[in-house]
Amino acid sequence: MLKRMLKVAVLGLGTVGSGVPAILQEQKDKIEQITGMKIAIVKALVRDIEVKKALAQKYHFQLVPDIKDIVQDPEIDVVVELIGGIEQARIFIKEALNAYKHVVSANKDLIATYGEELTTLAKEQNVSFYYEAAVAGGIPILRTLSSSLSADGIDEVLGIVNGTTNYMLTQMAQKGATYAEALVAAQELGFAEADPTNDVDGIDAAYKMVILSAFAYGMRISLDDVKIQGIRMLQSQDVKMANSLDYVFKLIGCSRKFDEGIDVTVAPALVHKNHQLANVNNEMNAVFVKSAGIGESMYYGPGAGSLPTAASVVADLVAIAQNVQYKVLGIPFNIYKKPTKLAADSQVINQYYFHFEVLDGKKQFEQLRSLFAKAQIKIKEMIDYDTQVIVLTYEASAKIKSKFLKSIESTSDFKLISVYNIFD
Ligand SMILES: NC(=O)c1ccc[n+]([C@@H]2O[C@H](COP(=O)([O-])OP(=O)(O)OC[C@H]3O[C@@H](n4cnc5c(N)ncnc54)[C@H](OP(=O)(O)O)[C@@H]3O)[C@@H](O)[C@H]2O)c1
Repeated sequence: MLKRMLKVAVLGLGTVGSGVPAILQEQKDKIEQITGMKIAIVKALVRDIEVKKALAQKYHFQLVPDIKDIVQDPEIDVVVELIGGIEQARIFIKEALNAYKHVVSANKDLIATYGEELTTLAKEQNVSFYYEAAVAGGIPILRTLSSSLSADGIDEVLGIVNGTTNYMLTQMAQKGATYAEALVAAQELGFAEADPTNDVDGIDAAYKMVILSAFAYGMRISLDDVKIQGIRMLQSQDVKMANSLDYVFKLIGCSRKFDEGIDVTVAPALVHKNHQLANVNNEMNAVFVKSAGIGESMYYGPGAGSLPTAASVVADLVAIAQNVQYKVLGIPFNIYKKPTKLAADSQVINQYYFHFEVLDGKKQFEQLRSLFAKAQIKIKEMIDYDTQVIVLTYEASAKIKSKFLKSIESTSDFKLISVYNIFD
């Protein structure tokens, strides 16, 4: 006989955890029709039962203080981990998988770090381990990459995958806010935490690019393989210069394939105003994919928030309910796997924005021009703003760029203020 109810336990009833019962309740008829079963939260693990009592009463589930109340309960089919952080979440998920529970998580930090270990364990236990909400919250990008784009060869994944920094950069570009003002505005709106390190230093985005790269290319990389630069050092004058040249700064997670190797970076970059990513503003997220068959496609939506993220979590629960109905268990979320190969700096190609401060505009303008020529970096545009010189280049390899930067290190006639990649 087919199973009629999928029983779920949620770990952590914070922002996302409290949205999950709401979505399940709202969509219960639709969910029942497409899965052939009810999905019901029966238990939730919390630290303070008093605080979460009203929510539990509203949605008719039991609050428990100990993970054993969940993993040792034979009635529970799925554990949804929404406590965040790495070590404790890893322990809870392993306990759940070892007890043959399916697991859903939204935890990018954990999955980027221990995804392989947990996926292997889930496979051994013949259960599902899904984490659609871990990348770009409400945007269904992982399942899109692993199913809808499964027959396409992906060459490039560009992501605006951190809402906090995107909100800040939008304030800097549109309202002329400084970095410090933009951070305060983001904190006041609850987009940035009191300690914004993970967001502003690009670490959160890098975790997501690790996961996206695994889905796009089958290659498992670690955070150490990602070249990360945050937005802390981005200066208002560069934001203004970019604007006058028809570009906007975005924190771009960039995962690209060069021959058989991949290169993954997170850094502020100039995005041309005609590029689809340039119009992704405030706290919104987007993932832009270039693939052999489809060409360019972009997936846009809210990267965070209680209901958008909970909707992705519930979509994973629906997928598990369908697996249970059709008795297809233990299939990894992302089956595609290839040996990891990182591209060499000589293969990685970019266009660049250079900002120099010069002592004598006219003289050093020519000096810079000849230095670029010597380094074989072709100049697309060179603009002289009195004591500031901006150089936009055509494509050159990361190796050539590094060599050029080294060659100008000891020059005292001008000072390199910044260098960023350009996406046209
Ligand atoms: N917020 C979003 O929009 C969003 C988007 C995408 C992904 N995510 C991911 O979703 C996960 C949850 O995020 P969130 O924003 O919902 O976090 P949150 O609001 O901080 O909620 C986490 C909840 O887990 C509880 N918790 C922590 N450790 C616990 C433990 N050992 N036992 C029981 N409960 C525990 C916390 O309880 P206390 O109140 O007692 O501390 C809190 O209620 C994270 O992995 C996050 O990266 C979030």
